Amino acid sequence: MQIFLDTANLKEVEEAVKYGFCDGVTTNPSLIAKEGLDYNDTLKKIAQMVNGPVSAETVALDAGGMLGEGRAFAKLHKNIIVKVPLTKEGLLACQFLTKEGIRVNVTLCFSANQALMAAKAGAFIISPFVGRLDDIGQTGMELIREIRHIYDNYEYQTKILVASVRHPVHVKESAMIGADIATLPYKVWEQLFTHPLTDAGIQKFLDDWKKVPKKR
Ligand code: G3P
Repeated sequence: MQIFLDTANLKEVEEAVKYGFCDGVTTNPSLIAKEGLDYNDTLKKIAQMVNGPVSAETVALDAGGMLGEGRAFAKLHKNIIVKVPLTKEGLLACQFLTKEGIRVNVTLCFSANQALMAAKAGAFIISPFVGRLDDIGQTGMELIREIRHIYDNYEYQTKILVASVRHPVHVKESAMIGADIATLPYKVWEQLFTHPLTDAGIQKFLDDWKKVPKKR
């Protein structure tokens, strides 16, 4: 499973790339607003740092507007792929952009039928939001299971990207179900490497090492 970072923070991307666990990045208007930087400049910098897709989200509501924004994003860097919302207009824009050779990430997916339509529109990536479904008392991971099943039934090549990830259990379940990608907030990315027993084990080895007689 590929691991993406869900961020527009350059330092976070730099850190994940340094350790070799950053297969791509997803951004959105909320994440870029948090950084207070120019969107295009930030996208270009991230795209230069990462060897993989970097999603840039359109804000127009009509297909024509999304096409204009999407084409401009795609010109910024070869790694940039265009994010459009899962609406009829978004899926229309997805079909046009895909025909032009621009890869599309269809976002804000909350149902299996929406994911089916995105695959039929030729989406490169579908982004179901598991955390936001959990927030309203539904089971986000169940949606991932349903989409995996449907895509496998018909051999759709659209990649399932698990978004709105809130904790490491979402990541483990994504991998067990067979999602293609999970995009993680930096905090969750860091949590993937840690376990209290690992820390305790290191401490014990270090303490015992002090007791080993050393030749002078
Ligand atoms: O990038 C989209 C998605 O991951 C947002 O997550 O936490 O705002 O629901 P969240």
